[in-house]
Amino acid sequence: MLATVYSCAVVGLDGEIIQVEVDYNPNSLPAFTVVGLPDTAVQESRERVRAAIRNSGLQFPNKRYTVNLAPASLRKEGPAYDLPMAIGVLAATDQVPLPKLEGSVFVGELSLDGSVRHVSGILPIAHRAWVDGYERLFVPEEDAPQAALVPEIEIIPVHSLGHLVEHLYDLAPIPAYVRSDIDPTPPQHLDGLTDFADVKGQEHVKRALEVAAAGGHNVLMVGPPGVGKTLLARALPGILPSMTLDEALEVTRIYSVADLLPADKPLMRVRPFRAPHHTISEAGLVGGGSWPQPGEVSLAHRGILFLDELLEFGNHTLEVLRQPIEDKQVTISRARVALSFPANFMLVAAMNPCPCGYYGDPVRECTCSPAAIRRYQQRLSGPMLDRIDIHVDVPRVDYDKLTDERRGEPSATVRKRVEAARALQHERFKEEPRLQCNADMGASDIRRFCQPEPAAKQLLDTTLRKMQLSARAYHRILKLSRTIADLDGSEVIRVTHIAEAIQYRPRRILY
Ligand SMILES: Nc1ncnc2c1ncn2[C@@H]1O[C@H](COP(=O)(O)OP(=O)(O)O)[C@@H](O)[C@H]1O
Ligand SMILES: [Mg+2]
Repeated sequence: MLATVYSCAVVGLDGEIIQVEVDYNPNSLPAFTVVGLPDTAVQESRERVRAAIRNSGLQFPNKRYTVNLAPASLRKEGPAYDLPMAIGVLAATDQVPLPKLEGSVFVGELSLDGSVRHVSGILPIAHRAWVDGYERLFVPEEDAPQAALVPEIEIIPVHSLGHLVEHLYDLAPIPAYVRSDIDPTPPQHLDGLTDFADVKGQEHVKRALEVAAAGGHNVLMVGPPGVGKTLLARALPGILPSMTLDEALEVTRIYSVADLLPADKPLMRVRPFRAPHHTISEAGLVGGGSWPQPGEVSLAHRGILFLDELLEFGNHTLEVLRQPIEDKQVTISRARVALSFPANFMLVAAMNPCPCGYYGDPVRECTCSPAAIRRYQQRLSGPMLDRIDIHVDVPRVDYDKLTDERRGEPSATVRKRVEAARALQHERFKEEPRLQCNADMGASDIRRFCQPEPAAKQLLDTTLRKMQLSARAYHRILKLSRTIADLDGSEVIRVTHIAEAIQYRPRRILY
């Protein structure tokens, strides 16, 4: 007796339908074989399937079973095939009605007692099942809210194998999951974030971060310990424009595959903020593993990747970052597959100016030799510097300001300005879908969209000559001045916009 059950694999960020064929031969010696490129976790399914069936009060005749997972070209991994295999065994042994499996996809891990456990990647799975025209998707109970983000497929939450069998026989039907409507307005309060209003002083740093947020520019903060660099970086998500629903779903898909979605929050509404430690591995940073998983650069997609104490990250680690910063995605090649994950993030970095941290500090004396300072600053490679549009010094705040009780401007107000500037960019790039914000512009886009008025052009040219800036620096200043003009609500790039942009140029503090 042969039974076919449909399931779904996750390849990169996409689902792919898998046929689980179970052949039952009651006239052969006992055996349970799984073929079709299963990994060891799938091989272990056999034990769980056997125990789960028996412990659910069903029969597992001790005969021969052959399970084929098709297409055979795709490597099957993880425990999500437990449930479809068990259903296949039960259908092949006449314990569930085969016609009732038509049009359905099954995913779920089984525990030995027959209860159905959470699996990762439910969002791409539900999406694939819907795109391929399946009517219904059976998922672990706790994964139903995430599956329900795909609006047009029936979701059946399964608590245990026994319940599912009763459902298939119409003995105790499981009601389909009832979707709650997705609130189209994103949350305005970002819980647990530092508000800009609570950061004392540092007005010019806040301004630089506002410019960075408005145009999506990468930013580096340099200053002694304890002046609020980490604090400011952590406050930054609060001034970023809220995500559209499409962006939220795109980010959620990444977190679904990485299995990092909190059970009570199936949809990521807030831009991600990732702050990996400097000891992170290459695979952890850009993604990888024998079955590729998204890394920090992809988990930061549409949000912020914060590298605190930038120079503590090894040269190799920083080198590895260049490609995703440039391409806004990572491609991971393996013997059988090349997968890509999106990685369009804002890089925010912080560092001290020298090894002891106090070079240039008016209060505490720096103990580093000039050679040591030079060596330290040179660890930041030219190519890396080139990819950071905004460099800003973060000095010590006067004691008076730190103890000043008055609050500054709240994040919500700053965010309004950032959103207005983004709206202008959205309008500007309507016909250029590859450009989302000013930071995405290449040299030819800059020529097209960033023409300063004559006096501003003159200032830029003079500065260029005086400071001997490179062509790259020239483009960077123009791009930034575009954002500064956008924040000012001005289509024309004026002298003041160029003058501010020049202040954010990269500079090594000591030569
Ligand atoms: N400008 C500031 N306004 C309010 N608190 C500050 C400020 N600067 C520093 N602090 C306080 O000092 C602590 C250390 O700041 P931190 O951001 O870790 O400094 P850094 O990263 O520059 O070494 C923070 O926890 C914060 O409470
Ligand atoms: Mg810090």
